[in-house]
Amino acid sequence: MRLFFAYWPSPGKAEEIVPWVRSAHALYGGRMMRTDTLHMTLAFLGSADAAAARTLAEACVQWRLPAGSMVLQEPGRFRHAKVVWLGPSAPEPSSLAWLYQANERLWDQLAPLGWRPQEAIFRPHVSLLRNAGPGDLDTLVGPAVNWTPGRCVLVASEPTAARSHYTMLAEIPLEREAP
Ligand code: 2AM
Repeated sequence: MRLFFAYWPSPGKAEEIVPWVRSAHALYGGRMMRTDTLHMTLAFLGSADAAAARTLAEACVQWRLPAGSMVLQEPGRFRHAKVVWLGPSAPEPSSLAWLYQANERLWDQLAPLGWRPQEAIFRPHVSLLRNAGPGDLDTLVGPAVNWTPGRCVLVASEPTAARSHYTMLAEIPLEREAP
């Protein structure tokens, strides 16, 4: 199995992202992410066995992470992976500081357990399409989605023939931003 931590939207918030999924699919084809699998990965850990997953699931419930607000409205692509995604816009540079801090704090907790990031930089995004075709991203528009994540979950991903199957193993409690 592969493990990752992700902010997971409520079913209602995931529905607000669906117009972006549909518009992206109409423009670029590929495979739409299912509504119940839309998420923002905070840390991808890679392959793990069941014992490591259990250890992590037990440890992470003691941790705390921030959750602030973001506005999802900036589409992007990972060309090599043929992924089209939706990311948060930052009207002021400081407005997303909490999100990058969450990523750093999570890795600060993971490092003593032997986990290392597989990517040099954190690129916050919600994947909309896999196996997407080419096309200008300027034509992809949709409603701004205001999102204050309510859950950060540890997920096990197991590839099946058609798609990955996700299982939620544990949840890291979130700290609310001061109003
Ligand atoms: P993605 O949405 O951009 O594909 C499970 O695979 C989750 O971990 C996905 O959200 C995926 O991001 C993310 N992820 C990050 N780095 C990954 C990697 N090197 N391989 C597979 N998934 C990765």
